[in-house]
Amino acid sequence: MLKVYVSLHTCAFIDAVLGRSFVFVSIRIFHFRPFSSSSCQTISLLLLVSFSSSSLMAHSGIHKDRGELRIHESLDELRTDLADYIAELSEASVKERGFFAIALSGGSLISLMGKLCEAPYIKTVDWAKWYIFWADERVVAKSHADSNYKLTKDALLSKVPIVSSHVHSINDSISAEEAAREYEFVVRQLVKTRTISVSEINDCPKFDLILLGMGPDGHIASLFPNHSVLNEKDEWVTFVTNSPKPPPERITFTLPVINSASNVAIVVTGESKAEAVHMAMDDVGPECSKLPARMVQPTKGKVVWFLDKQAAAKLDSPQFAV
Ligand SMILES: *[C@@H]1O[C@H](CO)[C@@H](O)[C@H](O)[C@H]1NC(C)=O
Ligand SMILES: *[C@@H]1O[C@H](CO)[C@@H](O)[C@H](O)[C@H]1NC(C)=O
Repeated sequence: MLKVYVSLHTCAFIDAVLGRSFVFVSIRIFHFRPFSSSSCQTISLLLLVSFSSSSLMAHSGIHKDRGELRIHESLDELRTDLADYIAELSEASVKERGFFAIALSGGSLISLMGKLCEAPYIKTVDWAKWYIFWADERVVAKSHADSNYKLTKDALLSKVPIVSSHVHSINDSISAEEAAREYEFVVRQLVKTRTISVSEINDCPKFDLILLGMGPDGHIASLFPNHSVLNEKDEWVTFVTNSPKPPPERITFTLPVINSASNVAIVVTGESKAEAVHMAMDDVGPECSKLPARMVQPTKGKVVWFLDKQAAAKLDSPQFAV
């Protein structure tokens, strides 16, 4: 009779600075033979494991029907996860369709995408296949501090090898109404050539990824609570001239376009958003269904929420999110 006992010892060292993890594995194998000498062998291995940052997250999971929830311990961790997520979607879209049509918003989102300008993403992402749009834009000059285009150009577009003719910003020398109409026209041309995919359900553009932030009032893009633009069913791009948050004139994708995307990511950080996150994710009664962020429910696509601990602080039970 031969009995073999294997005892496995592992210990992991997480090198947070380098974003790598070392796993020390020691395997002891005992051969036990009743009438002869037993032997013991120890095999020790030091493995250098490059964990995807998602394995280091505090919590993650599917939150009821509200999408996937990723809560991060730190902003640095969130930044890495967001860059990985975008890079993976880019790779999948380019493989499948030859293009990556991505729509951005403004705010802290852009700086949270900053790791894309660094190694390894700067080299590994197929930037030449990116087509950039804005899910919302302020109707101000492109050189204005409020311009989402300027924010993105300074922090991201000027640092990565994107083809400038693939960057679709608004015409800043016309009215909000005209700018919205013209922007929709541009999107229509690119849907015709399938540079932007098309929804099978309603002929809406189907962006590979729409990235959104959320305000403390629950607004996304320039779709504000109780605003009539929330009811827009026909237009793809519409405009507001009375935004409750300055500047007042903006253009914005409508809900049908957002909800036709293949992927929507909502990136929310900081304590001031915690109540809105709670209203957007938890069962807090019928009135919450009017919250713009809660109206993000892609028909076919996936939603991922990227939160830091502060933004997740008022969730009913983030630990039961799975
Ligand atoms: C913006 O619109 C104006 C008025 O239609 C037009 O003259 C101008 O060429 C447009 N600019 C761009 C960059 O398309
Ligand atoms: C929206 O309208 C409802 C009632 O019409 C009101 O109770 C709520 O405070 C409004 N929300 C905002 C953000 O203005």
